[in-house]
Amino acid sequence: MHTNQVYSELITVNNGSHKWWHRRWVKIIGISVPVLIVSSVTLALVLNFIVFAPKNSETSTPAATSSSPLTTAVSTPPSLSTTTPLVIPITSLPQTTTSLVTSTTTLLQTTTTPVVAPTTTLPQTTVTITAQHLGWSVTGNMNNARVYHTASVLPNGRVLVTGGKPDSSGIWNSAELYDLSTGIWITTGNMTDVRTYHTASVLSNGKVLVNGGISYDLNSAELYDPSTGTWTTTGNMINGRFEHTASVLLNGKVLVTGGNDIKDIVLNSAELYDPSTGTWATTGNMNNAREYHRASVLLNGKVLVTGGRVNSDDFHNAELYDPSTGTWTITGNMTNTREQHTASVLSNGKVLVTGGIGNGGSYLNSTELYNPSSGTWTTTGNMANGRHQHTASVLLNGKVLVTGGWYYGILNSTELYDPSTGIWTTAGNMANKRNDHRASVLLNGLVLITGGRDGADGMHSAELY
Ligand SMILES: *[C@@H]1O[C@H](CO)[C@@H](O)[C@H](O)[C@H]1NC(C)=O
Ligand SMILES: *[C@@H]1O[C@H](CO)[C@@H](O)[C@H](O)[C@H]1NC(C)=O
Ligand SMILES: *[C@@H]1O[C@H](CO)[C@@H](O)[C@H](O)[C@H]1NC(C)=O
Ligand SMILES: *[C@@H]1O[C@H](CO)[C@@H](O)[C@H](O)[C@H]1NC(C)=O
Repeated sequence: MHTNQVYSELITVNNGSHKWWHRRWVKIIGISVPVLIVSSVTLALVLNFIVFAPKNSETSTPAATSSSPLTTAVSTPPSLSTTTPLVIPITSLPQTTTSLVTSTTTLLQTTTTPVVAPTTTLPQTTVTITAQHLGWSVTGNMNNARVYHTASVLPNGRVLVTGGKPDSSGIWNSAELYDLSTGIWITTGNMTDVRTYHTASVLSNGKVLVNGGISYDLNSAELYDPSTGTWTTTGNMINGRFEHTASVLLNGKVLVTGGNDIKDIVLNSAELYDPSTGTWATTGNMNNAREYHRASVLLNGKVLVTGGRVNSDDFHNAELYDPSTGTWTITGNMTNTREQHTASVLSNGKVLVTGGIGNGGSYLNSTELYNPSSGTWTTTGNMANGRHQHTASVLLNGKVLVTGGWYYGILNSTELYDPSTGIWTTAGNMANKRNDHRASVLLNGLVLITGGRDGADGMHSAELY
Protein backbone atom coordinates (compact mmCIF):
# COMPACT_ATOMS: atom_id res chain seq x y z
CA MET A 1 0.00 0.00 0.00
CA HIS A 2 2.53 2.45 1.22
CA THR A 3 5.03 1.53 -1.44
CA ASN A 4 2.39 2.02 -4.11
CA GLN A 5 1.68 5.45 -2.75
CA VAL A 6 5.40 6.31 -2.70
CA TYR A 7 5.73 5.05 -6.25
CA SER A 8 2.92 7.26 -7.52
CA GLU A 9 4.48 10.20 -5.69
CA LEU A 10 7.81 9.35 -7.27
CA ILE A 11 6.18 9.54 -10.68
CA THR A 12 4.85 12.92 -9.68
CA VAL A 13 8.37 13.98 -8.71
CA ASN A 14 9.60 12.86 -12.09
CA ASN A 15 6.88 14.94 -13.66
CA GLY A 16 8.63 17.97 -12.15
CA SER A 17 7.05 18.81 -8.73
CA HIS A 18 10.22 20.15 -6.96
CA LYS A 19 8.39 21.97 -4.16
CA TRP A 20 6.96 18.77 -2.76
CA TRP A 21 10.51 17.39 -2.63
CA HIS A 22 11.75 20.16 -0.24
CA ARG A 23 8.78 19.98 2.08
CA ARG A 24 9.02 16.25 2.95
CA TRP A 25 12.61 15.41 4.13
CA VAL A 26 11.43 12.45 6.07
CA LYS A 27 10.14 10.80 2.93
CA ILE A 28 13.59 10.88 1.26
CA ILE A 29 14.56 7.71 2.96
CA GLY A 30 11.21 6.23 2.06
CA ILE A 31 11.83 7.11 -1.57
CA SER A 32 15.41 5.88 -1.54
CA VAL A 33 14.34 2.43 -0.39
CA PRO A 34 12.11 1.71 -3.41
CA VAL A 35 14.77 3.23 -5.72
CA LEU A 36 17.25 0.81 -4.26
CA ILE A 37 14.77 -2.02 -4.62
CA VAL A 38 14.14 -1.19 -8.29
CA SER A 39 17.89 -0.85 -8.89
CA SER A 40 18.52 -4.12 -7.14
CA VAL A 41 15.89 -5.88 -9.19
CA THR A 42 17.37 -4.42 -12.39
CA LEU A 43 20.86 -5.35 -11.29
CA ALA A 44 19.67 -8.79 -10.36
CA LEU A 45 18.10 -9.24 -13.80
CA VAL A 46 21.30 -8.09 -15.50
CA LEU A 47 23.39 -10.36 -13.31
CA ASN A 48 20.95 -13.13 -13.88
CA PHE A 49 21.32 -12.73 -17.63
CA ILE A 50 25.09 -12.52 -17.57
CA VAL A 51 25.68 -15.23 -15.02
CA PHE A 52 23.15 -17.77 -16.17
CA ALA A 53 23.38 -17.28 -19.93
CA PRO A 54 26.81 -18.95 -20.30
CA LYS A 55 25.78 -21.70 -17.97
CA ASN A 56 22.80 -22.47 -20.13
CA SER A 57 24.89 -22.46 -23.29
CA GLU A 58 27.38 -24.76 -21.66
CA THR A 59 24.79 -27.32 -20.76
CA SER A 60 23.00 -27.11 -24.06
CA THR A 61 26.06 -27.15 -26.31
CA PRO A 62 27.91 -30.45 -26.47
CA ALA A 63 31.56 -30.19 -25.54
CA ALA A 64 33.78 -29.76 -28.53
CA THR A 65 35.75 -32.95 -29.14
CA SER A 66 38.93 -31.48 -30.50
CA SER A 67 41.24 -34.18 -29.22
CA SER A 68 42.70 -35.80 -32.30
CA PRO A 69 43.07 -39.56 -32.06
CA LEU A 70 46.65 -40.58 -31.34
CA THR A 71 48.07 -42.28 -34.36
CA THR A 72 50.91 -44.67 -33.86
CA ALA A 73 52.84 -44.09 -37.04
CA VAL A 74 54.87 -47.24 -37.32
CA SER A 75 56.76 -47.28 -40.55
CA THR A 76 57.22 -50.73 -41.91
CA PRO A 77 59.69 -50.58 -44.77
CA PRO A 78 59.28 -53.17 -47.51
CA SER A 79 60.65 -56.55 -46.69
CA LEU A 80 63.96 -57.53 -48.15
CA SER A 81 62.93 -61.06 -48.99
CA THR A 82 64.10 -60.85 -52.57
CA THR A 83 67.54 -59.70 -51.54
CA THR A 84 68.44 -62.39 -49.06
CA PRO A 85 70.35 -65.16 -50.76
CA LEU A 86 70.56 -67.39 -47.71
CA VAL A 87 68.07 -69.40 -45.76
CA ILE A 88 68.05 -69.37 -41.98
CA PRO A 89 68.89 -72.88 -40.83
CA ILE A 90 65.70 -74.28 -39.41
CA THR A 91 67.63 -76.28 -36.84
CA SER A 92 68.67 -73.05 -35.17
CA LEU A 93 65.12 -71.98 -34.46
CA PRO A 94 63.25 -73.14 -31.40
CA GLN A 95 60.34 -75.49 -31.79
CA THR A 96 57.21 -73.47 -31.25
CA THR A 97 55.19 -76.08 -29.47
CA THR A 98 52.50 -75.35 -26.93
CA SER A 99 53.87 -72.85 -24.52
CA LEU A 100 53.96 -74.11 -20.97
CA VAL A 101 55.44 -71.35 -18.91
CA THR A 102 55.80 -71.48 -15.19
CA SER A 103 54.41 -68.23 -13.95
CA THR A 104 56.58 -66.27 -11.62
CA THR A 105 55.36 -63.67 -9.19
CA THR A 106 55.72 -60.14 -10.48
CA LEU A 107 57.67 -58.62 -7.66
CA LEU A 108 59.20 -55.36 -8.74
CA GLN A 109 61.97 -55.03 -6.30
CA THR A 110 63.66 -51.86 -5.36
CA THR A 111 67.31 -52.63 -5.18
CA THR A 112 69.31 -50.18 -3.22
CA THR A 113 72.65 -50.39 -4.88
CA PRO A 114 75.78 -50.66 -2.78
CA VAL A 115 78.87 -49.59 -4.65
CA VAL A 116 80.95 -52.59 -5.57
CA ALA A 117 84.52 -51.95 -4.62
CA PRO A 118 86.61 -52.67 -7.69
CA THR A 119 89.25 -55.31 -7.19
CA THR A 120 92.85 -54.40 -7.83
CA THR A 121 92.71 -56.13 -11.21
CA LEU A 122 89.96 -53.83 -12.47
CA PRO A 123 90.82 -50.79 -14.54
CA GLN A 124 90.79 -47.89 -12.11
CA THR A 125 87.61 -46.14 -13.09
CA THR A 126 85.34 -44.96 -10.34
CA VAL A 127 81.81 -46.08 -11.10
CA THR A 128 79.13 -43.72 -9.91
CA ILE A 129 75.82 -45.48 -9.61
CA THR A 130 73.10 -43.22 -10.88
CA ALA A 131 70.32 -45.71 -11.39
CA GLN A 132 68.08 -47.40 -8.91
CA HIS A 133 66.27 -50.32 -10.42
CA LEU A 134 62.61 -49.79 -9.61
CA GLY A 135 61.31 -52.47 -11.96
CA TRP A 136 60.24 -52.55 -15.59
CA SER A 137 58.90 -49.73 -17.74
CA VAL A 138 58.26 -49.50 -21.45
CA THR A 139 60.16 -47.00 -23.56
CA GLY A 140 60.00 -45.86 -27.19
CA ASN A 141 59.46 -48.42 -29.94
CA MET A 142 62.18 -49.02 -32.49
CA ASN A 143 61.30 -47.91 -36.02
CA ASN A 144 61.85 -51.46 -37.25
CA ALA A 145 60.86 -54.74 -35.67
CA ARG A 146 64.04 -56.69 -34.98
CA VAL A 147 65.18 -60.12 -33.85
CA TYR A 148 68.79 -61.41 -34.13
CA HIS A 149 69.95 -57.77 -34.28
CA THR A 150 72.86 -56.19 -32.39
CA ALA A 151 72.74 -53.44 -29.73
CA SER A 152 75.85 -51.48 -28.73
CA VAL A 153 76.29 -48.69 -26.20
CA LEU A 154 78.26 -45.87 -27.85
CA PRO A 155 80.71 -43.70 -25.89
CA ASN A 156 78.18 -40.82 -26.17
CA GLY A 157 75.61 -42.96 -24.34
CA ARG A 158 73.33 -43.66 -27.27
CA VAL A 159 72.52 -47.24 -28.19
CA LEU A 160 73.09 -48.33 -31.79
CA VAL A 161 70.98 -51.23 -33.02
CA THR A 162 71.76 -52.78 -36.38
CA GLY A 163 70.15 -55.22 -38.76
CA GLY A 164 68.25 -58.26 -37.64
CA LYS A 165 65.01 -59.55 -39.06
CA PRO A 166 61.41 -58.35 -38.89
CA ASP A 167 59.99 -61.79 -39.62
CA SER A 168 60.81 -64.87 -41.65
CA SER A 169 60.79 -62.92 -44.91
CA GLY A 170 63.61 -60.43 -44.73
CA ILE A 171 66.75 -58.98 -43.22
CA TRP A 172 67.37 -55.31 -42.38
CA ASN A 173 70.23 -53.12 -43.52
CA SER A 174 68.87 -50.36 -41.32
CA ALA A 175 70.28 -49.05 -38.07
CA GLU A 176 68.84 -46.77 -35.41
CA LEU A 177 69.87 -44.93 -32.28
CA TYR A 178 68.21 -44.82 -28.85
CA ASP A 179 68.47 -41.53 -27.02
CA LEU A 180 68.44 -41.96 -23.24
CA SER A 181 67.25 -38.45 -22.51
CA THR A 182 64.13 -38.68 -24.71
CA GLY A 183 63.52 -42.43 -24.83
CA ILE A 184 63.09 -42.07 -28.58
CA TRP A 185 64.63 -43.99 -31.48
CA ILE A 186 65.99 -42.13 -34.50
CA THR A 187 67.09 -43.74 -37.72
CA THR A 188 70.71 -43.39 -38.72
CA GLY A 189 72.60 -44.38 -41.85
CA ASN A 190 71.88 -47.75 -43.43
CA MET A 191 74.57 -50.41 -43.40
CA THR A 192 75.97 -51.22 -46.83
CA ASP A 193 74.79 -54.81 -46.39
CA VAL A 194 71.81 -56.48 -44.78
CA ARG A 195 72.81 -58.45 -41.69
CA THR A 196 71.38 -60.83 -39.12
CA TYR A 197 73.18 -63.26 -36.76
CA HIS A 198 76.09 -60.81 -37.10
CA THR A 199 78.22 -59.14 -34.42
CA ALA A 200 78.91 -55.52 -33.50
CA SER A 201 81.91 -54.31 -31.50
CA VAL A 202 82.54 -50.82 -30.13
CA LEU A 203 86.18 -50.01 -30.89
CA SER A 204 88.39 -47.89 -28.65
CA ASN A 205 88.19 -45.07 -31.24
CA GLY A 206 84.41 -44.95 -30.75
CA LYS A 207 83.52 -46.47 -34.12
CA VAL A 208 81.47 -49.65 -34.33
CA LEU A 209 82.64 -52.66 -36.32
CA VAL A 210 79.93 -54.97 -37.67
CA ASN A 211 80.95 -58.10 -39.47
CA GLY A 212 79.50 -61.18 -41.04
CA GLY A 213 76.08 -62.48 -40.31
CA ILE A 214 73.63 -63.66 -42.93
CA SER A 215 74.05 -61.05 -45.63
CA TYR A 216 74.84 -60.64 -49.32
CA ASP A 217 78.48 -61.24 -48.43
CA LEU A 218 79.22 -63.15 -45.23
CA ASN A 219 82.86 -62.04 -45.32
CA SER A 220 82.03 -58.35 -45.34
CA ALA A 221 82.63 -55.94 -42.50
CA GLU A 222 81.85 -52.25 -42.08
CA LEU A 223 82.41 -49.40 -39.67
CA TYR A 224 79.86 -46.96 -38.20
CA ASP A 225 81.08 -43.48 -37.41
CA PRO A 226 78.87 -41.97 -34.66
CA SER A 227 80.06 -38.45 -35.52
CA THR A 228 78.67 -38.65 -39.07
CA GLY A 229 76.04 -41.38 -38.67
CA THR A 230 77.40 -43.16 -41.74
CA TRP A 231 78.83 -46.56 -42.58
CA THR A 232 81.95 -47.34 -44.61
CA THR A 233 83.16 -50.76 -45.65
CA THR A 234 86.37 -52.06 -44.15
CA GLY A 235 88.48 -55.13 -44.88
CA ASN A 236 86.69 -58.44 -45.47
CA MET A 237 87.04 -61.28 -43.02
CA ILE A 238 89.06 -64.25 -44.26
CA ASN A 239 86.16 -66.60 -43.46
CA GLY A 240 82.55 -65.67 -44.03
CA ARG A 241 80.59 -66.53 -40.89
CA PHE A 242 77.42 -66.09 -38.86
CA GLU A 243 76.56 -67.17 -35.31
CA HIS A 244 80.18 -66.38 -34.45
CA THR A 245 81.49 -64.31 -31.53
CA ALA A 246 83.39 -61.02 -31.56
CA SER A 247 85.39 -59.66 -28.60
CA VAL A 248 87.30 -56.41 -28.27
CA LEU A 249 90.69 -57.32 -26.78
CA LEU A 250 92.54 -55.09 -24.32
CA ASN A 251 94.96 -54.19 -27.16
CA GLY A 252 92.06 -52.82 -29.22
CA LYS A 253 91.96 -55.63 -31.80
CA VAL A 254 88.77 -57.63 -32.34
CA LEU A 255 88.85 -61.43 -32.02
CA VAL A 256 86.25 -63.30 -34.05
CA THR A 257 85.72 -67.01 -33.38
CA GLY A 258 83.87 -69.92 -34.93
CA GLY A 259 80.37 -69.70 -36.30
CA ASN A 260 78.82 -71.16 -39.38
CA ASP A 261 80.09 -70.56 -42.91
CA ILE A 262 78.18 -70.13 -46.17
CA LYS A 263 78.19 -73.91 -46.74
CA ASP A 264 76.70 -74.43 -43.27
CA ILE A 265 79.98 -75.82 -41.97
CA VAL A 266 80.81 -75.03 -38.34
CA LEU A 267 84.19 -73.32 -38.05
CA ASN A 268 87.10 -73.72 -35.63
CA SER A 269 88.93 -70.77 -37.15
CA ALA A 270 89.51 -67.44 -35.49
CA GLU A 271 90.72 -64.13 -36.86
CA LEU A 272 91.76 -60.71 -35.66
CA TYR A 273 90.67 -57.27 -36.92
CA ASP A 274 93.20 -54.51 -36.57
CA PRO A 275 91.43 -51.13 -36.38
CA SER A 276 94.64 -49.27 -37.21
CA THR A 277 94.93 -50.96 -40.63
CA GLY A 278 91.32 -52.02 -41.22
CA THR A 279 92.47 -55.52 -42.08
CA TRP A 280 91.90 -59.06 -40.81
CA ALA A 281 94.54 -61.69 -40.05
CA THR A 282 94.21 -65.33 -39.07
CA THR A 283 95.17 -66.36 -35.58
CA GLY A 284 95.30 -69.77 -33.93
CA ASN A 285 92.42 -72.18 -34.54
CA MET A 286 90.25 -73.21 -31.61
CA ASN A 287 90.53 -76.83 -30.50
CA ASN A 288 86.85 -77.25 -31.34
CA ALA A 289 84.65 -75.95 -34.12
CA ARG A 290 81.77 -74.07 -32.45
CA GLU A 291 78.58 -72.21 -33.15
CA TYR A 292 76.12 -70.84 -30.57
CA HIS A 293 79.10 -70.57 -28.21
CA ARG A 294 79.99 -67.53 -26.08
CA ALA A 295 83.23 -65.56 -25.64
CA SER A 296 84.24 -63.49 -22.61
CA VAL A 297 87.23 -61.17 -22.25
CA LEU A 298 88.71 -61.93 -18.83
CA LEU A 299 90.22 -59.20 -16.69
CA ASN A 300 93.67 -60.66 -17.48
CA GLY A 301 93.04 -60.06 -21.19
CA LYS A 302 92.60 -63.70 -22.20
CA VAL A 303 89.38 -64.77 -23.93
CA LEU A 304 87.31 -67.63 -22.53
CA VAL A 305 85.18 -69.47 -25.06
CA THR A 306 82.47 -71.68 -23.62
CA GLY A 307 80.21 -74.38 -24.97
CA GLY A 308 78.39 -74.12 -28.25
CA ARG A 309 77.86 -76.99 -30.60
CA VAL A 310 78.95 -78.63 -33.80
CA ASN A 311 76.12 -80.31 -35.63
CA SER A 312 74.03 -81.73 -32.80
CA ASP A 313 76.81 -82.22 -30.24
CA ASP A 314 76.63 -79.75 -27.38
CA PHE A 315 79.90 -78.97 -25.65
CA HIS A 316 80.74 -78.73 -22.00
CA ASN A 317 84.31 -77.83 -22.78
CA ALA A 318 85.88 -74.41 -22.73
CA GLU A 319 89.09 -72.96 -24.06
CA LEU A 320 91.24 -69.89 -23.53
CA TYR A 321 92.78 -67.60 -26.12
CA ASP A 322 96.02 -65.88 -25.21
CA PRO A 323 96.41 -62.67 -27.26
CA SER A 324 100.15 -62.54 -26.55
CA THR A 325 100.76 -65.89 -28.31
CA GLY A 326 97.70 -66.14 -30.53
CA THR A 327 97.07 -69.68 -29.30
CA TRP A 328 94.26 -71.61 -27.63
CA THR A 329 94.50 -73.92 -24.63
CA ILE A 330 91.83 -76.20 -23.18
CA THR A 331 90.64 -75.18 -19.72
CA GLY A 332 88.27 -76.83 -17.26
CA ASN A 333 85.04 -78.42 -18.52
CA MET A 334 81.74 -76.90 -17.47
CA THR A 335 79.62 -79.28 -15.42
CA ASN A 336 76.87 -78.97 -18.05
CA THR A 337 76.98 -78.92 -21.81
CA ARG A 338 75.62 -75.58 -23.00
CA GLU A 339 74.73 -73.75 -26.19
CA GLN A 340 72.79 -70.52 -26.63
CA HIS A 341 73.64 -69.80 -23.00
CA THR A 342 75.02 -66.54 -21.58
CA ALA A 343 78.48 -65.76 -20.18
CA SER A 344 79.14 -62.64 -18.08
CA VAL A 345 82.38 -61.41 -16.54
CA LEU A 346 81.65 -60.41 -12.94
CA SER A 347 83.40 -57.58 -11.17
CA ASN A 348 85.37 -60.16 -9.13
CA GLY A 349 86.79 -61.54 -12.39
CA LYS A 350 84.83 -64.80 -12.37
CA VAL A 351 82.62 -65.73 -15.34
CA LEU A 352 78.98 -66.63 -14.75
CA VAL A 353 77.38 -68.87 -17.36
CA THR A 354 73.61 -69.35 -17.24
CA GLY A 355 71.12 -71.68 -18.85
CA GLY A 356 71.32 -72.69 -22.47
CA ILE A 357 70.49 -75.98 -24.14
CA GLY A 358 72.11 -78.93 -22.42
CA ASN A 359 72.40 -82.64 -22.98
CA GLY A 360 69.48 -84.20 -24.81
CA GLY A 361 68.00 -80.79 -25.66
CA SER A 362 67.07 -79.87 -22.11
CA TYR A 363 66.65 -76.17 -21.27
CA LEU A 364 68.92 -75.54 -18.32
CA ASN A 365 68.10 -73.64 -15.15
CA SER A 366 71.59 -74.30 -13.83
CA THR A 367 74.35 -71.73 -13.66
CA GLU A 368 78.06 -72.03 -12.93
CA LEU A 369 81.12 -69.93 -12.25
CA TYR A 370 84.54 -70.06 -13.89
CA ASN A 371 87.49 -69.16 -11.72
CA PRO A 372 90.28 -67.84 -13.98
CA SER A 373 92.95 -68.35 -11.33
CA SER A 374 92.24 -72.09 -11.02
CA GLY A 375 90.76 -72.73 -14.47
CA THR A 376 87.86 -74.62 -12.88
CA TRP A 377 84.08 -74.42 -12.77
CA THR A 378 81.79 -74.62 -9.76
CA THR A 379 78.02 -74.72 -9.79
CA THR A 380 76.12 -71.88 -8.21
CA GLY A 381 72.41 -71.22 -7.61
CA ASN A 382 69.76 -72.47 -10.04
CA MET A 383 67.51 -69.99 -11.80
CA ALA A 384 63.77 -70.34 -11.18
CA ASN A 385 63.31 -70.90 -14.92
CA GLY A 386 65.29 -72.90 -17.40
CA ARG A 387 66.10 -70.62 -20.35
CA HIS A 388 68.09 -70.26 -23.55
CA GLN A 389 68.15 -67.45 -26.13
CA HIS A 390 67.95 -65.13 -23.10
CA THR A 391 70.14 -62.18 -22.10
CA ALA A 392 72.43 -61.56 -19.12
CA SER A 393 73.68 -58.13 -18.07
CA VAL A 394 76.10 -57.20 -15.30
CA LEU A 395 74.51 -54.26 -13.48
CA LEU A 396 76.55 -51.43 -12.00
CA ASN A 397 75.89 -52.89 -8.54
CA GLY A 398 77.55 -56.14 -9.62
CA LYS A 399 74.38 -58.22 -9.78
CA VAL A 400 73.46 -60.04 -12.99
CA LEU A 401 70.06 -59.59 -14.64
CA VAL A 402 68.80 -62.37 -16.91
CA THR A 403 65.73 -61.73 -19.04
CA GLY A 404 63.30 -63.72 -21.12
CA GLY A 405 64.41 -66.51 -23.38
CA TRP A 406 62.68 -69.75 -24.21
CA TYR A 407 61.54 -72.62 -22.03
CA TYR A 408 58.86 -74.61 -23.87
CA GLY A 409 57.49 -71.16 -24.70
CA ILE A 410 58.77 -67.59 -24.69
CA LEU A 411 59.40 -66.10 -21.25
CA ASN A 412 58.61 -62.64 -19.83
CA SER A 413 60.23 -63.44 -16.49
CA THR A 414 63.52 -61.98 -15.32
CA GLU A 415 65.85 -62.94 -12.49
CA LEU A 416 68.68 -61.36 -10.59
CA TYR A 417 71.87 -63.11 -9.44
CA ASP A 418 73.70 -61.84 -6.40
CA PRO A 419 77.39 -62.84 -6.61
CA SER A 420 77.83 -62.28 -2.86
CA THR A 421 75.24 -64.97 -2.00
CA GLY A 422 75.11 -67.06 -5.18
CA ILE A 423 71.32 -66.81 -5.08
CA TRP A 424 68.78 -65.91 -7.77
CA THR A 425 65.70 -63.86 -7.00
CA THR A 426 62.88 -62.75 -9.28
CA ALA A 427 63.25 -59.30 -10.86
CA GLY A 428 59.67 -59.04 -12.12
CA ASN A 429 58.13 -59.70 -15.50
CA MET A 430 58.81 -57.66 -18.61
CA ALA A 431 55.80 -56.11 -20.35
CA ASN A 432 56.51 -58.45 -23.26
CA LYS A 433 57.77 -61.98 -23.46
CA ARG A 434 60.93 -62.13 -25.59
CA ASN A 435 63.61 -64.44 -26.90
CA ASP A 436 66.60 -63.66 -29.09
CA HIS A 437 66.30 -60.07 -27.90
CA ARG A 438 69.21 -57.86 -26.82
CA ALA A 439 70.10 -56.16 -23.53
CA SER A 440 72.35 -53.11 -23.07
CA VAL A 441 73.53 -51.59 -19.80
CA LEU A 442 73.17 -47.84 -20.33
CA LEU A 443 75.61 -45.30 -18.96
CA ASN A 444 73.02 -44.33 -16.33
CA GLY A 445 72.89 -47.94 -15.14
CA LEU A 446 69.46 -48.86 -16.49
CA VAL A 447 69.16 -51.89 -18.76
CA LEU A 448 67.60 -51.39 -22.19
CA ILE A 449 65.90 -54.46 -23.67
CA THR A 450 65.27 -54.30 -27.41
CA GLY A 451 63.20 -56.33 -29.82
CA GLY A 452 63.35 -60.08 -29.91
CA ARG A 453 60.39 -62.25 -30.68
CA ASP A 454 57.11 -62.84 -28.87
CA GLY A 455 55.88 -65.33 -31.45
CA ALA A 456 56.98 -65.90 -35.00
CA ASP A 457 57.93 -62.30 -35.75
CA GLY A 458 60.35 -59.67 -34.50
CA MET A 459 59.18 -56.87 -32.21
CA HIS A 460 59.47 -53.07 -32.29
CA SER A 461 59.15 -52.68 -28.56
CA ALA A 462 61.80 -51.85 -26.01
CA GLU A 463 61.73 -51.64 -22.22
CA LEU A 464 63.90 -50.46 -19.36
CA TYR A 465 64.88 -52.10 -16.07
C1 LIG B 1 67.62 -47.38 -45.76
O1 LIG B 1 67.25 -48.34 -46.75
C2 LIG B 1 65.86 -48.45 -46.95
C3 LIG B 1 65.62 -49.55 -47.95
O2 LIG B 1 66.19 -50.74 -47.50
C4 LIG B 1 65.30 -47.11 -47.42
O3 LIG B 1 63.91 -47.22 -47.51
C5 LIG B 1 65.65 -46.03 -46.40
O4 LIG B 1 65.24 -44.79 -46.89
C6 LIG B 1 67.14 -46.00 -46.16
N1 LIG B 1 67.42 -45.08 -45.08
C7 LIG B 1 68.43 -44.25 -45.07
C8 LIG B 1 68.60 -43.41 -43.86
O5 LIG B 1 69.21 -44.17 -46.01
C1 LIG C 1 86.54 -82.52 -20.59
O1 LIG C 1 85.67 -83.57 -20.95
C2 LIG C 1 86.14 -84.39 -22.01
C3 LIG C 1 85.05 -85.36 -22.36
O2 LIG C 1 83.97 -84.70 -22.94
C4 LIG C 1 87.39 -85.08 -21.58
O3 LIG C 1 87.90 -85.84 -22.66
C5 LIG C 1 88.42 -84.05 -21.15
O4 LIG C 1 89.54 -84.70 -20.62
C6 LIG C 1 87.84 -83.10 -20.11
N1 LIG C 1 88.79 -82.03 -19.88
C7 LIG C 1 89.15 -81.64 -18.67
C8 LIG C 1 90.12 -80.49 -18.64
O5 LIG C 1 88.69 -82.13 -17.65
C1 LIG D 1 65.98 -76.89 -12.21
O1 LIG D 1 66.15 -78.00 -13.06
C2 LIG D 1 66.25 -79.23 -12.36
C3 LIG D 1 66.54 -80.30 -13.40
O2 LIG D 1 65.71 -80.19 -14.52
C4 LIG D 1 64.97 -79.49 -11.58
O3 LIG D 1 65.11 -80.68 -10.82
C5 LIG D 1 64.69 -78.31 -10.66
O4 LIG D 1 63.46 -78.49 -10.01
C6 LIG D 1 64.67 -77.05 -11.47
N1 LIG D 1 64.33 -75.85 -10.68
C7 LIG D 1 65.05 -75.33 -9.67
C8 LIG D 1 64.55 -74.06 -9.11
O5 LIG D 1 66.06 -75.84 -9.27
C1 LIG E 1 54.06 -63.02 -17.98
O1 LIG E 1 53.82 -64.35 -18.38
C2 LIG E 1 52.94 -65.03 -17.51
C3 LIG E 1 52.92 -66.48 -17.93
O2 LIG E 1 52.74 -66.59 -19.33
C4 LIG E 1 51.58 -64.35 -17.56
O3 LIG E 1 50.69 -65.00 -16.67
C5 LIG E 1 51.72 -62.89 -17.15
O4 LIG E 1 50.51 -62.21 -17.33
C6 LIG E 1 52.79 -62.22 -18.00
N1 LIG E 1 53.05 -60.90 -17.45
C7 LIG E 1 53.04 -59.81 -18.21
C8 LIG E 1 53.37 -58.53 -17.54
O5 LIG E 1 52.78 -59.87 -19.39
